[in-house]
Amino acid sequence: MNSKLKLLFLFCIIAPFSVKAQSRYSDAEIAFKSDSLIKLMTLQEKVTMIHASSSFTSGGVPRLGIPELVTSDGPHGVRVEHGRGWTVLQNVLDSGTYLPTGVCLASTWNPKLGYAFGSVLGSEANFRGKDVILGPGINIMRSPLNGRNFEYQSEDPFLVSKMVVGYIKGVQDQGISACVKHFAGNNQETLRGSIDVQMSERALREIYLPGFKAAVQEGGVNTLMGSYNKFRGQWATQNNYLINQILKKEWGFKGLVMSDWGAVHSTTQALWNGTDLEMGTDLSLGAHPDYGKFFMGDTVVTLVKEGKIPEYIINEKVRRILYVMYKTNMLGGQKRQKGEYNTQAHQLTAEKVAEEGIVLLKNQDNILPLAANVKSIAVIGYNADRKQAFGGGSSQVKAFYEVTPLQGLKNIAGKKVKITYCKGYNIVRNGGPDQTLIQQAIAAAKKANMVIVVGGWTHGYDYNVWDDNAYDAEGTDKPNMDMPFGQNELIKAVIAANPKTVVVLMGGGPMDITQWVGDAKGIIQAWYPGMEGGNALAKIIFGQVNPSGKLPVSFPKKLADAPAIKLGQYPGDSTTVNYFDDIYVGYRYYDTFNVEPQFAFGHGLSYTTFKYSNLQVSAANKQATVTFTLKNTGAVDGAEVAQLYVKQEKLNLPRPDKELKGFEKVFLKAGEEKTVTITLDQDAFKYFNDVKNEWEMDPGVFDFIVGSSSRDIRLNGKAEL
Ligand code: BGC
Repeated sequence: MNSKLKLLFLFCIIAPFSVKAQSRYSDAEIAFKSDSLIKLMTLQEKVTMIHASSSFTSGGVPRLGIPELVTSDGPHGVRVEHGRGWTVLQNVLDSGTYLPTGVCLASTWNPKLGYAFGSVLGSEANFRGKDVILGPGINIMRSPLNGRNFEYQSEDPFLVSKMVVGYIKGVQDQGISACVKHFAGNNQETLRGSIDVQMSERALREIYLPGFKAAVQEGGVNTLMGSYNKFRGQWATQNNYLINQILKKEWGFKGLVMSDWGAVHSTTQALWNGTDLEMGTDLSLGAHPDYGKFFMGDTVVTLVKEGKIPEYIINEKVRRILYVMYKTNMLGGQKRQKGEYNTQAHQLTAEKVAEEGIVLLKNQDNILPLAANVKSIAVIGYNADRKQAFGGGSSQVKAFYEVTPLQGLKNIAGKKVKITYCKGYNIVRNGGPDQTLIQQAIAAAKKANMVIVVGGWTHGYDYNVWDDNAYDAEGTDKPNMDMPFGQNELIKAVIAANPKTVVVLMGGGPMDITQWVGDAKGIIQAWYPGMEGGNALAKIIFGQVNPSGKLPVSFPKKLADAPAIKLGQYPGDSTTVNYFDDIYVGYRYYDTFNVEPQFAFGHGLSYTTFKYSNLQVSAANKQATVTFTLKNTGAVDGAEVAQLYVKQEKLNLPRPDKELKGFEKVFLKAGEEKTVTITLDQDAFKYFNDVKNEWEMDPGVFDFIVGSSSRDIRLNGKAEL
């Protein structure tokens, strides 16, 4: 980005997005207005509001000026237009901003970018006439194989909690509702529509719920989506414990709970257990479904008339829907913002997130950034030239444009560097090494000064077929953690032909790269970096951008090392999955059980170096303040994510070796230093005691561990609390 564009970008992040589109009414006024409206409604009209009226809308009451609620996927862009059915509409303005996917956003460790990201979504949703964006998706990455990890954020509940708040506020400050999903325990796609998830109360509270709690209590999210799976024997979307007890009662959630699409299974359970809105399209009802046949349709009218369900239960659901409508000025006479579509500012946000989210995993002999004397580069790999936006399932985006890695490299290299390209492998079902393509790649690698292989996973074999999914996709998990399509053979052959090889991995999480990790000098994790991803990647490779992304998920060496598989069950049997891995998810497992990962949680390299010093911990009243000095000791400007982990020395209940409780992304010019201050309140020291069924803090000595990753520890302190 040149300096003018940078200024424009900063202006765009700070200026228009700070124009908030909040309702002028207080919650008490909204409650009064909603009740007045409800009094005017017939039972049939109320019931119309609590179920879908088309593939992405729920019913309105035109007589009273209540509009339909218009929802749209998804987490990283406003989805292609479906109209009222499922057929993708042609010749409509629905090619929009394709942001990097959730895992790339989380890799920035920059909550301000979460806000900017949400602002883009909110603004484009407004432009497209949507009321609710069906994101963020924040399910914990429990298994490396989960097909939707790319949409989600992290294995760590603290990181999720910090990133999700910015995203939600960003969306909602545009006057649009966010919809945090999928609540809860939807950590695999295998059998997602039937599996019964069993976990301890402690795992639920410490690992799987904190992100949702932060979304509600800190983000003020207006809507939430229940998940497809069962939770302790009852469907999550109509789960009394999750929705009524925890979400609404304990956390005080005031907004509406919608089902995942087709996730309601019983009228009475949905009515009693807190589901406010049944969404989905029952395709068995034909091309023009009669939405009255939904579980929360005509049957409800009958049940209320027969006195089997009290009408206040229905009123309460309608009240919550109206609350969201008033909150977002769908009702109340205030003007909605128009929103903007495909602006340069939105594209710059997409690029900025990619620049900060792409992770430099390995940089032996400083192979990166590319030396000035590189005259020729062989770019190899199908993913270098493949567009990814339209894959993955419901999060698919029709991108206004998508700069592929190959295009990005050509854009940034300019005329001085000769770039050749060959595919190296084919994306075909059950495809193995293609010797002809490998020979071509070897020949190209030998001729060039440098090689960049772009491989990894993909969203689908054929993007024209919605459910032709592959490795990072809804509705299906990955078959294993191996690199598909014969890529190991390709990469090994290319490295042998030219050791100056950098491997760029695209995908939603870790792959087994043990066959060549020791031989590749450079490795970059690029995730699915959005419409500007190719430019961002190229800028990192050429040194115009100093990488600052950090892994939000541990990369194990082998699938067998993953705790879900080693300690727990994954994907379970045909009915049930037991999370015996309990609280030992991700680095909580690798560090406690001394299993060395390939790349640790929080890992990510920079082109500069950082020195940590002068740690001070002051503790009083069960709170602590941690300060330290961070200095950029290298020759280029850069950013470091300083991470603070906490560990209690003497334990009453077993606890993980250490847990992330604070972090800060610090931008430092070459030679510059800053004092970093992180304050920890009581919550940082608590654990969930599931014998007593409450959060608890045991007084004692705590370690304060400051690192550049969970395994690159730079400072250690102690304090008694
Ligand atoms: C997905 C949701 C999505 C919904 C609507 C479901 O299959 O699980 O994440 O928002 O479809 O497309």
